[in-house]
Amino acid sequence: MSRENRIHCAALRNRVMSAEEAAALIPSGVNVGMSGFTGAGYPKAVPSALAKRIMDANVNGKHFKIGVWTGASTAPELDGALAMVDGIEMRLPYQSDPTCRKRINAGEMEYIDIHLSHVAQFVWSGFLGKLDIAVVEVAGILEDGRLIPSSSVGNNKTWLDQADRIILEVNSWQSAHLEGMHDIYYGTQLPPHRKPIPIVTPADRIGEPYLRCDLDKVIAIVETHSPDRNSAFSAPDENSRLIAGHILEFFQHEVRKGRLPKDLLPLQSGVGNIANAVMAGLNDGPFENMTAYTEVLQDGMLDMVRSGKLACASATAFSLSNDALARLNADLGRYRERIILRPQEISNHPEVIRRLGVIAMNGMIEADIYGNVNSTHVMGSKIMNGIGGSGDFARNAYLSIFMTPSQAKNGAVSCIVPMASHVDHTEHDVQVIVTEQGLADLRGLSPKQRARVVIENCAHPDFRPALRDYYKRALERSPGRQTPHLLEEVFDWHLRALRGEPM
Ligand code: COA
Repeated sequence: MSRENRIHCAALRNRVMSAEEAAALIPSGVNVGMSGFTGAGYPKAVPSALAKRIMDANVNGKHFKIGVWTGASTAPELDGALAMVDGIEMRLPYQSDPTCRKRINAGEMEYIDIHLSHVAQFVWSGFLGKLDIAVVEVAGILEDGRLIPSSSVGNNKTWLDQADRIILEVNSWQSAHLEGMHDIYYGTQLPPHRKPIPIVTPADRIGEPYLRCDLDKVIAIVETHSPDRNSAFSAPDENSRLIAGHILEFFQHEVRKGRLPKDLLPLQSGVGNIANAVMAGLNDGPFENMTAYTEVLQDGMLDMVRSGKLACASATAFSLSNDALARLNADLGRYRERIILRPQEISNHPEVIRRLGVIAMNGMIEADIYGNVNSTHVMGSKIMNGIGGSGDFARNAYLSIFMTPSQAKNGAVSCIVPMASHVDHTEHDVQVIVTEQGLADLRGLSPKQRARVVIENCAHPDFRPALRDYYKRALERSPGRQTPHLLEEVFDWHLRALRGEPM
């Protein structure tokens, strides 16, 4: 893509400066709202320049840290660069950067893991403190100062609205065809003034294609020409293919029973390789004319848009491998009519998810025999990434599905355990659990009935006997209980794993 001039607002031209000059306008101690949702649409230059500044301050013995608020995870140039120099005091919401993860789990960085749909309203309400500065990547600036959003929308509308000062990165690498793809809704309110969000199909446009921006707040504009950066998906492995197969078979069963329409219901697909493999399975499967109301649009979903299997996809961000990104940018004009990017408080809005009857499919770390799901913590206390949008979707979906291989760490760890060591999604929000071993449909089952199905259908055969034994003894001890447990040994599985022994 060419480095054409994307700044068409004459009043802003004199605010163009280098990333270093812009970073010098960010003082220590402030809260900064950055664009970015997965490796899409994050600022490419200012965070790295700021990291350099923080490093210099550290060398001189000064304590320089900021609060970093984003849409979700970002990329090494943002989270990685700032975490590397220990420049983040407080991080929110979802992250997946290895250095951030290390610092959070070492107690060197505070982390607030909240539902992605809640972030904007937390900021509007002032629950998170003052937002001082917004650093937002855009694809261009119109003559009247409105902004063409980039490859993710995330919380940008809120950052631009709530921050005292704004730094814009105008990235000419982003396709000019992004213009018109976004739907920015300005009708959200705090209670008691809320009105219904008027989305009744995933394809509905209810807002405007541009972000509004108070030009008086813009203190710097930095021009960049840098690609988004997302990691590649691995080719679906045997486990992912089996999980995808179980889900497809289940959908066909539900259609036959008349519980799902033949073009299914709007799909939400979480992050990661398994979710991507499920989309690949759907692309090869029998369903036509599907839709998506989701958070991120991964490679598999883009393939479905291209093949025509997906009539329309609504999301807040692209989350594509470099190959898929190149394919998208080469042909964005063609995709534009069928893809909508919205603010994350709308892409993940509980009201809309419930109304549309979304089919939510998300990964997890572990589930217990009663159907409680842990999406965020390893062995009870170490954060992996965060809850992301999984809670927004799971609780409000028509069908909420959680999937994982039945074992982790080369078979040393069972992903089906007596009691989840941390709970993000309670038994009340989890309707279907799938592993490569099979699928457990938990709808209409009591806890004791669920335990049998989860153990028999989802646990790995190596762990099944021990789970059966646990459940049998728990039941014998307290036959009348709603949810039998042996509290004195319920975390023995995790304790063994922590000692490096097989679970
Ligand atoms: N115990 C210990 N570690 C486990 C584990 C378990 N039961 N299950 C998985 N892990 C580890 C894996 O070993 C791997 O660690 P490594 O990177 O050190 O090898 C890591 O967790 C990721 O597991 P992986 O099998 O690669 O799964 P994934 O990429 O599909 O990610 C989640 C799974 C749960 C981490 C991911 O889906 C997530 O962050 N979910 C929460 C947010 C979400 O759902 N977002 C979508 C909403 S739109």
